[in-house]
Amino acid sequence: MNKTKIVSTGMYVPQNAVTNDDLAKRIDTNHQWIVERTGIHQRHIANPEGGEWPTDLAAKASMQAIEAAGLQPNDIDLIIFGTCTPDVKLPNCGSILQTKLGITNECGAFDLQAACSGFVYGINLADSLIKTGAHKNILVVGSEVTSREIDWDDRGICILFGDGAGVAVVSAAAEGESSEILATHLSADGTGREFFEQNVGGVAEPVTPERIEKGEHFFQMRGREMFKIATRTLAENARICCRKAGIEVEDIDWIVPHQANIRIIETTGKLLGVDPNKVIVNIDKYANTSAATVPMAFHEATHDGRIKRGDIVLFDAFGAGVTSGATLLRY
Ligand code: UT7
Repeated sequence: MNKTKIVSTGMYVPQNAVTNDDLAKRIDTNHQWIVERTGIHQRHIANPEGGEWPTDLAAKASMQAIEAAGLQPNDIDLIIFGTCTPDVKLPNCGSILQTKLGITNECGAFDLQAACSGFVYGINLADSLIKTGAHKNILVVGSEVTSREIDWDDRGICILFGDGAGVAVVSAAAEGESSEILATHLSADGTGREFFEQNVGGVAEPVTPERIEKGEHFFQMRGREMFKIATRTLAENARICCRKAGIEVEDIDWIVPHQANIRIIETTGKLLGVDPNKVIVNIDKYANTSAATVPMAFHEATHDGRIKRGDIVLFDAFGAGVTSGATLLRY
């Protein structure tokens, strides 16, 4: 059995940064409320004219990660693309990304829809495929343009989200290397469907002028319910992963949580009894970029010197579904 290593990462966000004050110019909100209730100061928003769709953001982040791994695009033999805001319904973003990266080896490419848990689901799946030797170099992507799926007149939701991409190249660790994915956990509770849904646009409820008029094609979220489930689930999944790996929560050097709300992150930390300095937070700069939050936060922390090779790291995410997943690794 191989050991799985996160070899390298990359990230990219759209050029346009939108501050809370920018939002307050067009909806009834203010910087203080947003910071106190969410921890968000700004978010990056994709150009609505195009050129910054999820596969564009992912292509930039992927090239960074592929180069950092010392690989060529054609060394990638599988693309797992976590997104709930795909460029188009068909074909899948993984295939579009394959072309944008100039990959000509016909590697497998598919989208993984687990909302904000998409990247962690992807990493956990990649772990199995590397361990068994089925694949050698897997590109795991979390990339979203949530800004096209939210109602910019709804202050309860539009302040929360941003656009961005984070990716990782996952391969087998070489003999004697300490890097390793130690434990994984995936979970979903479909009974929480109505807490975060987007029903219009699928085959059951096609887009119609009437539905667009009512704004039913946008994300529909019940924030308080998601908040409660999030804290419980994130703490529970962290403990499950530690149990599986045979380590204590205190042994974790860094937690990289889904960046949905600073209060969710802090409450989870308290439930786990974790020192807040061990928790990676960048929600202030990027808001909630859904499947991209964990890889973006991980990328930043591994590049500014906080997370080092050999550290024990926990990825911990949740999202619509209600999906959740955690990955415990020695970086
Ligand atoms: O990626 C995963 C999916 N999403 C989540 O996990 C989101 C989880 N939930 C949350 O982050 C929080 O529930 C929110 C940030 C969405 C909302 O915070 P809250 O503390 O639960 O606020 P609330 O909805 O209970 O609203 C409190 C008050 C209300 O006013 P009244 O009724 O007390 O007069 C809202 O109308 O705040 C008002 N409000 C706002 N005020 C200024 C709601 N949104 C805003 C706003 N600016 N943007």
